[in-house]
Amino acid sequence: MAGNLPIDGRRLWDDLMQLAEITDPGKPYTRRSFSPLFDQGRIWLRQRFEAAGLETRIDNAGNLIGRRAGSDPAAGTILIGSHSDSVPSGGRFDGPAGVLAALEIVRSLAESGVVLRHAIEVIDFLAEEPSEFGLSCIGSRGMAGVLDDGMLRYTDPSGEVLSHAIDRVGGNVAALATAKRSDIACFFELHIEQGLVLQDGRLDVGIVTAIVGITRIEVVFRGSADHAGTTPMHLRRDAFTPAAKTAVFVDRVAREFVSRKEGLFVATIGIVSVSPGASNVVPQEARIVIDARSENRALMDEFLALLDRETRTFASESRTERAVFARLSDTNPTACDARLRGLLRDSANALGFTSTDIASGAGHDAAFVARIAPSAMLFIPCRDGKSHAPEEWAEPDALAAGTAVIAEAVLRFDRGSSTG
Ligand code: GLV
Ligand code: MN
Ligand code: MN
Repeated sequence: MAGNLPIDGRRLWDDLMQLAEITDPGKPYTRRSFSPLFDQGRIWLRQRFEAAGLETRIDNAGNLIGRRAGSDPAAGTILIGSHSDSVPSGGRFDGPAGVLAALEIVRSLAESGVVLRHAIEVIDFLAEEPSEFGLSCIGSRGMAGVLDDGMLRYTDPSGEVLSHAIDRVGGNVAALATAKRSDIACFFELHIEQGLVLQDGRLDVGIVTAIVGITRIEVVFRGSADHAGTTPMHLRRDAFTPAAKTAVFVDRVAREFVSRKEGLFVATIGIVSVSPGASNVVPQEARIVIDARSENRALMDEFLALLDRETRTFASESRTERAVFARLSDTNPTACDARLRGLLRDSANALGFTSTDIASGAGHDAAFVARIAPSAMLFIPCRDGKSHAPEEWAEPDALAAGTAVIAEAVLRFDRGSSTG
């Protein structure tokens, strides 16, 4: 047994592999938020929460929560967890590892007969990955009170409105304000690193210093649909041309920012659609979504100003219209709580695990929970840094080690000491 709680790494691993079975069989591992498979995964999770003796509920923002009461009702709640949704053709660990690690911690608390002073809740945040609505971290935004009316009106490709989709999975948007919490004493999230620092350094765990800010911009160029063979080049108004110029521009500027060494900066265009979408028709409309991330807000603001200016220029150069330039989401970089980081570091040391500080280039629910409560994250190594792909992999021992570190930190937090 590592630490003060008997974490059962085998049971945790079996849970993770069972949840992974709930996937689109033709596209493993896919469990998109708001889909029937997502509901199926949640039914399975809820049963597991209940089997562990937790009182379960779905809050008004659509988060699945399992709660175990503490001995001091005034002490507040220790929250632990992550998300169960995936990207299309994603992995088995990004999200579920943190939810099931949290479940294993409360299960072992119950089995050891330990009653904490604080209540403890295991959480599966709704839709951490950018869903079909184009928005990420829906449940944690709701819990932090920053899921605004504009976002709630976003629609998915089928035309469903986000507020309706949240209600459909058990939330209650009409009473969303009550999803905002003021009782969270601390939040811990375990996650695979999704990078190479831990593997390359042969380190057991990473203590997250900060989570990047993420800005997603939708740009739509509108031109004119014309015959691809008979419309001379100088007369066409091809909507894809400014989109392609934007892609080249984004790549160039991002590389330039990296070379300035003013903090992590990356930018990606992962959504491109052209309509009407026929090989012999000049595109009438082109839509792209740019995902830009930085730990330095000043860099992000500089990027957004350049993008605004250049996309206008590209549109006019090709005699098209820049019909949409919209921030789908925009979050600032978030520092993790210093005291909780210290607890994680001390817990890792006490259990004989090596650790390092590490910044997160991925977005996480912890960035939103940090607006309402002290929050921290622990990374575990994953093979070759691969993530958002079916090859995503973490070793069972690495998962058990990370879970034991968070369990220890939870016990130390509950006792109100940083040294145990
Ligand atoms: C979450 O997976 C992200 O996009 O960083
Ligand atoms: Mn992810
Ligand atoms: Mn994740």
